[in-house]
Amino acid sequence: MNGKIITIAHQKGGVGKSTIALNLAVELNKKYNLKVIDLDYQKSITIFNETRKEKKLKPLNIIHIENQKELIDVLKNNNEMILIDSGGFDSDLNRIAIIGADLVITPVSNNLIEIYGLEAFKKILQELKEIEAEIKSHILLNNIDPKATKALKELKKYIQKNKEYFSLFDTVLRRRSDFAKSFEKGKNVIEMDKKSKASKELKNLVKEIKSILK
Ligand SMILES: Nc1ncnc2c1ncn2[C@@H]1O[C@H](COP(=O)(O)OP(=O)(O)OP(=O)(O)O)[C@@H](O)[C@H]1O
Ligand SMILES: [Mg+2]
Repeated sequence: MNGKIITIAHQKGGVGKSTIALNLAVELNKKYNLKVIDLDYQKSITIFNETRKEKKLKPLNIIHIENQKELIDVLKNNNEMILIDSGGFDSDLNRIAIIGADLVITPVSNNLIEIYGLEAFKKILQELKEIEAEIKSHILLNNIDPKATKALKELKKYIQKNKEYFSLFDTVLRRRSDFAKSFEKGKNVIEMDKKSKASKELKNLVKEIKSILK
């Protein structure tokens, strides 16, 4: 995993990018020398880290980026591991974060309207493909109703039809109160309760990421 760059990206707001980023960051920061880049205007992961410092929990190493050149330099000179939380909008910085990534994670929930959001994201990926041939995003189902057993047929069909741009994580993150609370608590779900269902899902996600990036 050394030298790997993971970017959580979707121009659609409120899909869970920051929630997933901060949960993953705490986990990866246990084993790797992780750098975190916060491109979200809301600065969720930066605020989360302030809470961690107040609570004397192991802080994340957040790198502050002022402009495109700085971001490109940090990504180019990476020999550790970088996790980027991008903002829910399209921007040059977010696009650089997608191009520079070894793994792009795009959270999506179970809702037909999500396909329209993905279609807009695909347009961004299509434009980036003209610069970088290897552009693909791994879709992560997030915030899924725990009772929903129905296969996410339409979404899966869409991903299958667009497999040049998208693939799907086996891991599914369901709607869990621990995920919703992690930001304000300054803890990831495993720090809150290592035996919870949310923790199991997060561990599965880390495992799957490792197998993709190995
Ligand atoms: N798996 C989940 N279970 C419960 N709540 C969740 C889950 N994922 C996200 N949420 C909640 O959904 C809301 C939006 O999440 P978040 O801020 O992470 O989205 P985002 O994609 O980073 O948004 P933005 O694009 O505005 O940066 C938050 O209130 C968060 O707590
Ligand atoms: Mg966010």
